[in-house]
Amino acid sequence: MGKVVASDIRERMKLLANRQIIQLGGGLPDASLYPAAEIAEACARILGDPASAATALNYAPSEGHPPLRAWLADYMTGIGAPCGVDNIMITNGSQQGLDFVGRLLLSPGDTVAVEMPSFIGALRAFDAYEARYVALPGEVDAALPTGAKFGYLGSDFRNPTGTSLSLAEREALIDKAAAIGLPLLEDGCYEKLRFEGAAVASVFALAVQKAGDVEACGVLHTGTLSKTLAPSLRVGWVAGPSAVIRKLVLIKQAADLATSALNQMIALEVAARCLDRQAALGRDLYRRRRDAMLEALGAFMPPGVAWTRPEGGLYIWLTLPEGIDGAEVSEQALMEDAVSVISGAAFYPVDPVRNTVRLSYSLASEEAAREGIRRLGARLSAMIGAPQRRNSAPPARR
Ligand SMILES: Cc1ncc(COP(=O)(O)O)c(C=O)c1O
Repeated sequence: MGKVVASDIRERMKLLANRQIIQLGGGLPDASLYPAAEIAEACARILGDPASAATALNYAPSEGHPPLRAWLADYMTGIGAPCGVDNIMITNGSQQGLDFVGRLLLSPGDTVAVEMPSFIGALRAFDAYEARYVALPGEVDAALPTGAKFGYLGSDFRNPTGTSLSLAEREALIDKAAAIGLPLLEDGCYEKLRFEGAAVASVFALAVQKAGDVEACGVLHTGTLSKTLAPSLRVGWVAGPSAVIRKLVLIKQAADLATSALNQMIALEVAARCLDRQAALGRDLYRRRRDAMLEALGAFMPPGVAWTRPEGGLYIWLTLPEGIDGAEVSEQALMEDAVSVISGAAFYPVDPVRNTVRLSYSLASEEAAREGIRRLGARLSAMIGAPQRRNSAPPARR
């Protein structure tokens, strides 16, 4: 526990519970998208039938509700990674999958190669196993570090930067990792939320294709229904070679026996009926909100601030001028301007780059995003000592 620290984001969420804050921080789905009616109907159907109620209210198998595993095996096959039921394990959200892979592969002092910056939830999970960290570079010609137990990466619209790996970068990463025997753990949290540009196959799918069989591939993949259906279902999954899945199932048995059968059955019904529709609604809403935020950034950020331009997902990453601390920005923006943003430093497991901030466009309406970015721009101008921008110049890009 000495290595485990409170998550800034979760602490912040508690603090904000009752205030009128413009939310440009947390990466939660917009509540208007939750398929509440479909979930209520599915729940009524499942519990209305004595046989399915008996299954739903009992313990599920530790590896997951078999029909949901089968559906997800088809889903993974449909995105180019042919999987069978034995290649899928259901977890309590994909966060649990990250935790279990850490538990399986890490002993105290072992090294994990991660992107810098990286998803904070994964870092906290690996911290619990006393991991050390090195950088996992994504660029095609960058050498991979040796000696790490595995490499953890997001390929699409990463949390926190919003950036993605190109096809060439994915291919190169798989080849280089295979050459040094480095297993990869790909976090597929946002893969269904691409609203611009051509889809690129996941690292997992490419690795399965290269190996010719999922059983021979050196990549594990986590997926989730949190960002497309609802986080509270807590339905995620790990896909990978069956020998690894079997080990993870033993860990699941020790950790919590099983994910809720009722939740899995609801998730299956709702996903089968409307996952594609829900993802399309999310893409449409988040694209509009991203556009509004990018436009506001162009209009209100002082010179010297750069930002990413995501093709999907929920996040934009700001790089501030040297010497401006993202933690101070986030503190002042919250307390003085009622705008919530997340300091970037916490997303680095080592050598934090302090002049960074994570923005999310998932929660704020277009109007609120514009107002929030206007206030943030004014705050940054004051901190930098730069004149406030009033025009709308084209956005800087990274
Ligand atoms: C990159 C990434 N992975 C995993 C998760 C965990 O999601 P869940 O446990 O709800 O599936 C999140 C949540 O924000 C995330 O951003």
